[in-house]
Parts: sequence; C-alpha cells; structure tokens
Amino acid sequence: MRFLFTICLLFAATIIFSQEINIIPKPVEIMKADGTFLLTRETLIVCDEKIEDAALFLKDYLNTQYSLQLQLARHNRESKNAILLINGEDQDKKGLYELACDKNGVVIGGDTEGVFYGIQTFIQLLPATNPKLKTQNLQIPQLTIFDYPRFAYRGMHLDCSRHFWPVDFIKKYIDYLALHKLNTFHWHLTDDQGWRIEIKKYPKLISIGGWRNGTIIGRYPGSGNDGLKYGGHYTQEQIKEIVKYAADRYITVLPEIEMPAHASAAIAAYPELSCFPDEQTINFYPKQCAWSGDKNGKQVQQTWGVFDDVFCAGQENTFNFMQDVMDEVLALFPSKYIHVGGDECPKENWKRCPKCQQRIKDNKLKDEHELQSYFIQRMEKYLNNKGRTLIGWDEILEGGLAPNAVVMSWRGEAGGIEAAKQNHDVIMTPGNPVYFDFSQSENEDSVTIGGFNPIEKVFAYNPVPKELNAEQAKHILGAQANLWTEYIDNTKKVEYMIFPVWQH
Ligand code: ACM
Ligand code: ZN
Repeated sequence: MRFLFTICLLFAATIIFSQEINIIPKPVEIMKADGTFLLTRETLIVCDEKIEDAALFLKDYLNTQYSLQLQLARHNRESKNAILLINGEDQDKKGLYELACDKNGVVIGGDTEGVFYGIQTFIQLLPATNPKLKTQNLQIPQLTIFDYPRFAYRGMHLDCSRHFWPVDFIKKYIDYLALHKLNTFHWHLTDDQGWRIEIKKYPKLISIGGWRNGTIIGRYPGSGNDGLKYGGHYTQEQIKEIVKYAADRYITVLPEIEMPAHASAAIAAYPELSCFPDEQTINFYPKQCAWSGDKNGKQVQQTWGVFDDVFCAGQENTFNFMQDVMDEVLALFPSKYIHVGGDECPKENWKRCPKCQQRIKDNKLKDEHELQSYFIQRMEKYLNNKGRTLIGWDEILEGGLAPNAVVMSWRGEAGGIEAAKQNHDVIMTPGNPVYFDFSQSENEDSVTIGGFNPIEKVFAYNPVPKELNAEQAKHILGAQANLWTEYIDNTKKVEYMIFPVWQH
C-alpha cells in the first residue's frame, strides 16, 4: 500500500514537472532546466528599499493564497533559499525583467515595473492554489525567463453600467489584470442603464441616473421585466481608492464618460441635456420591451440597445455640463487618456432639433456626422488644454477625426487601420475576437450577447494588421478585451467570461 502510494506520488511529480511552462502572456524567451526550487518557511524575500512594495505584494500573495509567511530581508548571508529582487532602471524597455530559478532560489531583475511583472510570472509558475495544499509542496521549475511587453497599451474593460460591480470585486478584477501584466483598466462608468460615477456638481446623476426601475428578463427584447429597482454608484472616495489600488499594480484606470449617445441615464437626471426635454423616454427600439414603474418624462433605460435620445449638440448647456463633469473626472483620474465614448450615436433627434440644425448652419457643417465630429473636437480641445488625450470608439472617424484623438477600433479593425493611416494612435479591440461577452463555447448554459470567440481565436489574435506599413504599425499602441455586461448579472459569470474554457 505504502509502495503504491509512493509510486502515485512519483507519477504525480512527473506529470507536474514534465509539463509545458504555461505563462500568459507567453514570455519572449524561456530556457528550461532540470529540477525545481522548493519554497519553505525559511525562504527569504530579499530586496532593497526601492522595490519593497513589490516584495510586500509577493509576501502578501504567498500568505493569503498559500498560508506561507515569508520574511523580508535586505541581505541574504547564506545566498541560498531566497527570492532575490533586483532593481535597475537603466534598461531601454519599460517592464522588461529576467527571472532565473535554480535550486538555491529565484532572482528577479528589472525596472520597478519589470520586477512586478517578474513576480506575476513567478506567481504563475506556482501550483494552482488549493486550500488543502501543504506549503512544502510549493515548488517551481528551474528555468530562466527573459521577457518584456510587446505593446505599451494592454487593456481590459468592464461595463459597470448595465450591471454594477462592488468595489471589492473591482479590486479583484484589477488583480486579474495584474496577474496577466495588463496595464490599463478601462472603466465604463456611464451608459443608458445607469450612471455610476459621483459628480458633486450634478448630484442627480447618481440619485436619479444611478437607478432603473427594472430590467428586461432574458434575451432582448425580453420575456418580461423583473420589476426590481437596480442601481448603485462609486463615490469619489471609492474611485480614488480604486485608482490607487490599480496604480500600486502598475495599472492605469482609463475612465469612460459616454457622449454624445448612450446618454439616457444622464438625461433622466437632467432632461434639459436632451434635444427634446419634454418628450417621454421611448422604451422600445426597435421592439417593444416590457417596462416597470413610471413611464412619464425621462427614464433610465430598462432594456439594451441604442437609443435616439442623445445629448443635444446645439446648446451650450450640454458643453458646460460635459466640461464640469470632466473637471471632476480629471481630478480623480491621473490617466493621460480620457475616453469619451462616441459610439452608436443615432442622428434622428439632431435632424429634427432646431438648435442642432442651427449649430450645423453656424459652423458650416455638412451634416449630422460632422456635428458629431464638432462635438468630439470641442471636447478634445477641452481635454488637450488640460494636458490629456481623448480616446473614442471608431465612430469618431465619421465626419472627421479630432486632430489628436486616439481611436479604439471595435467594429473590426477597419477603423483602426484607417486611423493609423491618418497618423493617429490606435487601440485594437475588435468584437471578433476580443469581445469577451461573446459566447466562448458552442453551448453556453446562460444567455450571451451572441457571437463566438473561443480562446484559440483570442490567443491567435495579432493586433497589428498586415494592411499597415512599418511606420503606420507604430500607431498600434496595443490591444484590449472588452466585457459588456448586458447579459452578465453576477460576478461568477464575469469570471467565467474572462477566463475561458479550453475546449479541445
Ligand atoms: C461598443 O461596443 N459599442 C463600443
Ligand atoms: Zn439638439
């Protein structure tokens, strides 16, 4: 019996250590060696003061995930049984690191960001967390890894309007980003179904715009309405806490404030922002959806889609509002980039609005597309004057790109290709394959928005299109995956969607 047990253990060990080294994203270079390094309670984390934060991150991780409490030290006299973190800033690639593991321990060297990424790689080399796992089994393979990020922008998005996620979950989400060496959290904070960011000058944005009286049941147009009041928002204090939490993990939080469309929640709070403040919110487009509660006046939407009631581009009041909102947003988010949405703006209201038509005439604009461009360019000027750069979805190409805008290409790559050819920076985030709200298997057991983006397609995605020459290709800052949450109403499903299953 004992013999059999030993054989089983040996067999398990062979399986573990003959495995491929699977680090996501794949490092630039991995050189494998034989054997392992075993972490024990005596293993020291050695570093100088400058990278103590990274050392504390690792210490905390090992403690919370594996109940292994390691000590920090400045020096290691034994020069063995240690995880040695070495910081050097004189490298040409930001985030570059080298990780070397032999039987005596692990050395991770790089700039501060690189050391942090080296630690994330180290964490991925550890066995999957298992509460029953004994700490003496914590070993990693002997190897050397050389790695640096291919792209300066590595993003992940989360829609917090369609469904609202608590602060603790946002932090967990940011941890998932950090583990995969992503450096931007694109926080989608406003949309038709809920305004989620506290703006002190306009308190009704959260008290009214932050709540809807119900949500359609199931796939659009829905089999009814759940009749449940749904909402929530992030206070400015919570936002500061999240921005700091992310920054500690080398992640920039990119806020998105949608304009001129996806504006129903803001218009419910401040109807004067609409071209037609007295018109009732239309609760169907193009199909009738079941409604819950008051139908009068302006309402936060209870169904999904694209709605005609957008911000009026003809009145100064809209721009004053937007600039006031931006003032508070800029004070909260140090990000160089600020996302203003710009997608899916129907032009129906602008066509019949005397103020919008007057604006077109006064500015000698050709049509409503140029009016959209006017809107975005005005906001760009405001942001540029404050030292920030505007990002918009690829619809901001229509009617002419704002001079310094960065384009997020989501309707395929065409918008991104066009923008790069116009010498604009681009972030690739095409629905196929990096919309993680799409189905990832052929038989999902709950509703998804549709599409099919299995993991193979995601891993195979190259964000630099072959249509671009070398100069134009430099405008591709990187890529991003998006998670829209119309059909994701609980955190378990968020996790399921962002960590796809391997089907084959
Ligand atoms: C988008 O998916 N509407 C950007
Ligand atoms: Zn108007």
